[in-house]
Amino acid sequence: MYETLITSLENGIFTVTINRPDKLNALNRQVFTDLNKALDEIYTNKEIKSAIVTGAGAKAFVAGADITEFNGLTLEESKALAKNGQDTFFRIERSPKPIVACVNGFALGGGCELAMSCHFRIASSNAKFGQPEVNLGLIPGYGGTQRLVQLIGKGRAMEALMSGGMIDANTALQYGLVNYVVPQEELLAKTKSILDVINSKAPIAVAKCIESANAVFDETKNGYEVEINSFGDCFGTDDMKEGTNAFLEKRKAIFTGK
Ligand code: COA
Repeated sequence: MYETLITSLENGIFTVTINRPDKLNALNRQVFTDLNKALDEIYTNKEIKSAIVTGAGAKAFVAGADITEFNGLTLEESKALAKNGQDTFFRIERSPKPIVACVNGFALGGGCELAMSCHFRIASSNAKFGQPEVNLGLIPGYGGTQRLVQLIGKGRAMEALMSGGMIDANTALQYGLVNYVVPQEELLAKTKSILDVINSKAPIAVAKCIESANAVFDETKNGYEVEINSFGDCFGTDDMKEGTNAFLEKRKAIFTGK
């Protein structure tokens, strides 16, 4: 079904592994086509409660957009390439189901941008982040200039963008770019244990957390209003009744997603 991805679904967690290890999982057009198909599956398959994005092999999450596809692009084509990347990563960011980046090595250029579009990130100790596009006479095109500022602050982002330098895993942790740093062999298990907790919560409430938190960074929206409406939407759900009743009856809630 996918040319460049390996996928699996276990306990409601859909794992998407970008599988071009000989090219350090660089994002070519086919990867974007496949990622969009995987997003269709995440959005529509009721068995999927949350997703992980990671890279094949021990060396790289994703080492960037595939530079070999940059040659000979017209100005218009280069803009369309950036737009397609941004649109794909918006779909990740706006997914109503949690999508977490398991950063298992280099997350450079488009790889850093992919990781940043996920709802949060967990890194292995060998992970390295960066936006090295300036080395190519370029800038990030898939949302990197925006999300890096959002996630690590303007001063640190400016330095990283303009120098093209790499940010190691422990510095990424200190900057708040990742939530945890763990040995590589524990990376998937750690991420799955966090998602098991999230997957046990009411899915509509989880989706509304994502929507409301995203609204902070959306100038077209008033985040406080989004929060009020989301709060109200949750009040209309069976899961809210179940959650509050279960608390009062001192039992564990069983959520149905309705
Ligand atoms: N696009 C296309 N191919 C890439 C790539 C990318 N972004 N990143 C790595 N590759 C390919 C290399 O060309 C090489 O292919 P080859 O074996 O056919 O020559 C293979 O992946 C392995 O990479 P290599 O450079 O040999 O590994 P390394 O360990 O010496 O260096 C990096 C690792 C990540 C430092 C280096 O690959 C690199 O700088 N990549 C580009 C990062 C970048 O600029 N990303 C932003 C793109 S906009």
